[in-house]
Amino acid sequence: MRGGIPSEAAGVDWDVLRAAADAIAARAYAPYSGLRVGAAGLTERGELLSACNVENASFGLSLCAECGLVSALVSSGGGRLVAVAVTAGDGRPLSPCGRCRQLLAEHGGPDLLVDAGPQLPPRRLGELLPLAFGAEDFARRSPS
Ligand code: THU
Repeated sequence: MRGGIPSEAAGVDWDVLRAAADAIAARAYAPYSGLRVGAAGLTERGELLSACNVENASFGLSLCAECGLVSALVSSGGGRLVAVAVTAGDGRPLSPCGRCRQLLAEHGGPDLLVDAGPQLPPRRLGELLPLAFGAEDFARRSPS
């Protein structure tokens, strides 16, 4: 820890991540809600990925920005996410929805850092999604 910020956060340029989220939010397809969301993620290899939300006339089929981010991660070669910023194009953190917390948990785990804005230290995903269901639950419950 340093100044209340997890030490791993020191290597993350949150301004860059937020700017990337803001930039891609402008490309959102959000004609129904009008909420244009961008998600930017940093991988353990230092790659920066981003994606926006894509809505659908059948509302329940809409894809959150974080969903696109996870898809971009896997389709560009995979790896682990270490930091994520989600905004609605205004630089301010947008709280990932419950489904997206689960999606992010699969590819970043509980130590994934989630932006909480410039005034606050980032949060760990484990704080946003405690006791997450994950791959290890299959191992624990598979028949011997
Ligand atoms: N949305 C996201 O992209 N990410 C979230 O974590 C919360 C919600 C999008 C989905 C929908 O297009 C719009 O915001 C309104 O819910």
